[in-house]
Amino acid sequence: MYHNLCMKHNRWWRDCVGYVIYPQAYLDSNDDGIGDLRGIESKLDYLRDLGINLIWLGPIFKSPMEDNGYDVSDYLSIAPEYGTMDDLKHLIDRAHELGIKIILDLPLAATSDEHPWFQMAIKDPDSAERGYYFFRKGKLKDGELVPPNNWASFNSIPAWTKVPDSDEYYLHIFAEKQPDLNWSNPAVRKSMADVALFYLNLGADGFRIDAMAHLSKDMSFSDSNLPDHGNGFVLDTDKFSNRPEVGEYLKEFSDALNVDHDPCLIGEAGGGITPENAARLASIENGPVSMIFNFDTVWNNGAFGSIDKKDEEIKTDLVLLKSNFQRWYEKCHGVADMPLYWCDHDHPRVLSQYGSEKYRNESAKCLLTTLLFLYGTPFIYYGDEIGMSNVTYDKPEDFFSDSATRTDVAYLRSKGYGDEQITHYLNRCSRVNSRTPMQWDRGENAGFSKKGSVNKVNGNYLQGINIYDQMRDPWSILNFYQYAIWKRRDALLNDAVINGTLEFLDFYNPDVFAYRHVGASCELIVVSNFTEKEVDFPFYHAIGEVILQNYDNVYLRDHTFHLRPFESFLLRIRNDE
Ligand code: NOJ
Repeated sequence: MYHNLCMKHNRWWRDCVGYVIYPQAYLDSNDDGIGDLRGIESKLDYLRDLGINLIWLGPIFKSPMEDNGYDVSDYLSIAPEYGTMDDLKHLIDRAHELGIKIILDLPLAATSDEHPWFQMAIKDPDSAERGYYFFRKGKLKDGELVPPNNWASFNSIPAWTKVPDSDEYYLHIFAEKQPDLNWSNPAVRKSMADVALFYLNLGADGFRIDAMAHLSKDMSFSDSNLPDHGNGFVLDTDKFSNRPEVGEYLKEFSDALNVDHDPCLIGEAGGGITPENAARLASIENGPVSMIFNFDTVWNNGAFGSIDKKDEEIKTDLVLLKSNFQRWYEKCHGVADMPLYWCDHDHPRVLSQYGSEKYRNESAKCLLTTLLFLYGTPFIYYGDEIGMSNVTYDKPEDFFSDSATRTDVAYLRSKGYGDEQITHYLNRCSRVNSRTPMQWDRGENAGFSKKGSVNKVNGNYLQGINIYDQMRDPWSILNFYQYAIWKRRDALLNDAVINGTLEFLDFYNPDVFAYRHVGASCELIVVSNFTEKEVDFPFYHAIGEVILQNYDNVYLRDHTFHLRPFESFLLRIRNDE
């Protein structure tokens, strides 16, 4: 057996088109209003036909669901609302029969406060479990006990919560109910590797390593010197994100898994990871993980935190978007593999961000073509294949299934914002927009469940935004997705995309996203108009074949493409002259 442990065995994910499933919202097989594993299994044939061959399955472990499964209370049990261990095994086996791999979302930087380790840590300060987390004594300030330092969490609250009847606090960089695990403790590292091995032995093909960037903390726990948010607390990611020890922890973790398996390990890296750092961690030669999800290509339209902005101010900054893709490509090509995505369960729907609800059909196809042929392994977020878009809910409470949105709303109300403005903002920015039920047909709750759903279904399922209707329409977004995905998996095209060179065309053009791959045996060009207006784009190549297009024809005259709103195509270039 090959034992250069960090060396990836055959990097099978380079031939994959991935698909992201948020389990709670995909399909409810037992009509309790919550999606489940059997529901997902019943749609595997659909997914195989769509052309995807890799699923990233959102977290399914037992959890009080404070953070919708990212707060695990038992890693070795399946959340009963999602099914059983047998259901998972079935799902994996059936997926494998259809040629689909499954990676599980593994939240291993923190647990739920209902996990037995944490319960024991609270109950007995001398227990071994106390060392699984970060407990520190509070400080006395003007005679009052305050947190050990001034760190704020990502959820706009202090990163420390006091242990009742004690002068100690515990650290949580997300919600209060998600105490952070202390990865500097070898027992924690061993336990999490054992969990991962358990699921690999069950048949899983790898993991999305949730919150990977935050595995290590500044163990001096010194105060941040950055300016505070007015309440004395500071979100200073340098204190707990992308610190050097993350690589060491991941190496130990992946070495344990690589002995008998060939898993795909995708790290989720917020906290401003640099492409250089990511290329090291995912290095083909000796990096501990397979790929890194970065956040640099989301929110490139000024929508993040945009409560004070008018709708007209939210505009895709296409040059910024291209430069982010380019930066990552330049550092990773030939050195590290990369995942590609437009959005996931932590962002609003991409169609409402970079696309256009007015040009839904054209923009959904344009977004897909643009992403699919960039360097990397593309991941499609469930529902994007029918052009699902943001919701139009009526009140902040409609978004309250999400704890982060609840804290946001409390904060905004405390700052004096009215509910109308907050609702408008949430309809634009809340991540609940991406967590509504999958729209299967025109039936009750869009065919998701007879019972209802955690988040209200988007009413537009009655206007053709559902799988059933789009399967029957040859020009639908869904049929385009299917055709495009199978093209993306063509070996010749895949070789040009993965191994060929990538060059952006007319880089500073603010309206058009265009690029060229020069592969060993074919040359490809993508041209995409990212606006609702008509745009001319100069072009001096000889077209060999139009592989994908989202209008009836491609209009080229006098070396100029006349692009219609969100027009996009993929061409093979003739270089025989
Ligand atoms: C990253 C997950 O994607 C997100 O949904 C979650 O809230 C945070 N980790 C914290 O658990």
